[in-house]
Amino acid sequence: MKKVLGIIGSKRTSGNCELMAKEISRQITEPHQLTLLRLPDFNIGYCTGCYRCLIKNKGCVLNDDLSTVLEAIADTDALIVSVPTYFLAAHSCLKSLIDRGISFYQMADRLWGKPAVGVGVAGIEGKEGSTLLDIERFFATILAKNRVSKIVYGALPGEVMTNKRNKLMAVELAQSLFGEDKENEGFCCPLCGGRTFRFLEQNQVRCMLCSDAGTMRISAGQLVVEIEPDSHQLLASEGQALKHRDWLLSMVKQFREQKDSLNAVAAEYEDGTVWIKPER
Ligand SMILES: Cc1cc2nc3c(=O)[nH]c(=O)nc-3n(C[C@H](O)[C@H](O)[C@H](O)COP(=O)(O)O)c2cc1C
Repeated sequence: MKKVLGIIGSKRTSGNCELMAKEISRQITEPHQLTLLRLPDFNIGYCTGCYRCLIKNKGCVLNDDLSTVLEAIADTDALIVSVPTYFLAAHSCLKSLIDRGISFYQMADRLWGKPAVGVGVAGIEGKEGSTLLDIERFFATILAKNRVSKIVYGALPGEVMTNKRNKLMAVELAQSLFGEDKENEGFCCPLCGGRTFRFLEQNQVRCMLCSDAGTMRISAGQLVVEIEPDSHQLLASEGQALKHRDWLLSMVKQFREQKDSLNAVAAEYEDGTVWIKPER
């Protein structure tokens, strides 16, 4: 039997995110066991930027719940992420985990390529902001394969399931999870499948998921985007993710070599500036 992990990005018990994840699970036809994990209940600290987790068998310096969450993701066959929109973006619990992403390389072989579907719940039609992009970035960082991610609307706890359109959405997501991989279908970045772009000068665009740039033009009445992969890819494939890890390791080596001169630069800024510190 397949294992499906549902990551719930809301603190609300029996809220819209939880119900959507359960509904998607109900619509999956393959025999499976659904396990849920309420991400904001876990203590996920801020990355200290020390890069210790890059070094084999060292691990992260923080003593928090990261390994519990990562182990749950590594142990599953497929993922459902259901997260609310908070102030025009996905709930920050997704970003908290993303920011610990350097730790993920140690278990890349156990994380890579798991099928995943995402649902972003917003209370006001059209006011989801960057939620979809945030979900796509979450999947890219945990090295999962985004099958389909969608936005649904519902404000009051439970309201999302009173809308027939949302139930149909749950069916579509359920079918996509173990169904045929319709890679990069519809209008999206031809490299990574991202659906959000920044307009640069003239006809230049940058994909906000892989951050590669290219051009846009109209062809036969359709907008066409062409994106050029640059030489430094972060997450486009397992090989590229590991190449990025090796680049980070080379930067650690470079830092060790240049430590004295860099410390001398920083020392020039030790000027007794007043800091406000948290009260403990
Ligand atoms: C702090 C906060 C900020 C919110 N910001 C937005 C927003 O920017 N756009 C929106 O459409 N809904 C917003 N909402 C509404 C939630 O996305 C909506 O109620 C959703 O159904 C919550 O999911 P849940 O029931 O699983 O917690 C916000 C809700 C809260 C509590």
